[in-house]
Amino acid sequence: MSFESVVEAVRERVVPEASEVRAMERVVAELEARAAAAIDELPVEADTELVGSTARGTWLAGDRDIDLFVLFSPELDREDLERYGLAVGHAVLPDGHEEFAEHPYVKGQRGGFDVDCVPCYAVERPTAIRSAVDRTPFHTAYLEGEIEPLADDVRVAKAFLSAIGAYGSDLRTKGFSGFLTELLVSEYGGFRAFVSAAAAWEPPVRLDPADHGAREFDDPLVVVDPTDPERNVAAVCSRRNVARLVHHARRLLADPTAERFESERPGPLSAPEVAGRIADRGTEPVAVRFAAPDIVEDQLYPQLETSLSGLVGALDRAGFSPLRSACFADRRAALLIECAVPELSGVKRHDGPPVGVREHAEGFYRTYREDESVTGPFIDDDGRYAVERAREARTPAALVRAKLFEVSLGTHVEAALEEDHEVLAGSDVAALADSFGAELAAYFDPRP
Ligand code: CTP
Ligand code: MG
Repeated sequence: MSFESVVEAVRERVVPEASEVRAMERVVAELEARAAAAIDELPVEADTELVGSTARGTWLAGDRDIDLFVLFSPELDREDLERYGLAVGHAVLPDGHEEFAEHPYVKGQRGGFDVDCVPCYAVERPTAIRSAVDRTPFHTAYLEGEIEPLADDVRVAKAFLSAIGAYGSDLRTKGFSGFLTELLVSEYGGFRAFVSAAAAWEPPVRLDPADHGAREFDDPLVVVDPTDPERNVAAVCSRRNVARLVHHARRLLADPTAERFESERPGPLSAPEVAGRIADRGTEPVAVRFAAPDIVEDQLYPQLETSLSGLVGALDRAGFSPLRSACFADRRAALLIECAVPELSGVKRHDGPPVGVREHAEGFYRTYREDESVTGPFIDDDGRYAVERAREARTPAALVRAKLFEVSLGTHVEAALEEDHEVLAGSDVAALADSFGAELAAYFDPRP
């Protein structure tokens, strides 16, 4: 199939039918009316504004999410903004619940659509924002008129980025946000042009749609926010996701198929299958399993990653040569590190100074001469003093047990680990398949 016919087929799938558009518009009108009525009850003025992909006609068919902002005067203090914002939110979404981003907002459902009702300040200029959400109405205004002719290309781009696992600016995905996707498609002038450009990217890549210039960013992908020169719209986009896009863009151009726009989810592995994979690989996995702390994903995943990289570093320094690692979470959480070295010697070497460096050398010799716990001191082939001392942890699991609370863990993860945790090693790691069979399938069969 040609590139164009593949894109045409995908377009069919991702552009909503007229009936879905009408249903969305009806729900939005109803939400706006309810919000207006609730605002009338408040002692202050406020406006509503539809933002995000439903405002711009760039949402994916079936992916029904409405972002309704309530704009208050910047004179209002934050406490009142939160109080009035929540009052409007609850009036609009009586069955909704509160969530917390930079400040609380109400999330709920209406007519089959997921709705976020988010309070913000109606600031004059984007540089005068008081919270990150205040920028959003400016983004909507910037793209207005620009994005309409490209709306379906944006939808195709979102479907492609989703399929390769790189869509979403949440801190678990660390991928491309809706706004970023829209800017890229608009800058390059369409989906095909975007993909062709990405296939040739050599990160770091910099785009500056509004020609703000100057400000440097230290990120693999920089798209200077057209409404704020100090901000990189792609700041959360990870190196891996930028590289992923480059790879999959090349694959799509070389061999365009509609399957490249659908994510493949490998079936979950059972515990015996995981044990089999571990045996085949001849590696030494170690895992820490615990109850996931009850915090939002945008807090949880960064903490899990901090904890994981702390353990990877400790295992690496201790000589266990970590090959790969991953963290998983649902109600339970797991940190998994697969090591190349299953066991180290009972003693490890500690080098001293060359004998010729008199003062240091004599100090070293004196320190260890009386130390019953070491072997030596002796002089090695290079003419240095050295001793051998007992290794504190001979296996990855022993090291994890010994150092778990010495590495930097996120606050909530640390508390959860203190509450309870278990360390699994070798084939016992297969027990993780109970909760994380699908994640383990992806782990043992990694794809770009
Ligand atoms: N937003 C926000 N807080 C929320 C929900 C949305 O600040 N609770 C803002 C986002 O920062 C973004 C806009 O509202 O600027 C829309 O967010 P989102 O739904 O994530 O992106 P869309 O562009 O609507 O893309 P999608 O098609 O994925 O919904
Ligand atoms: Mg949205």
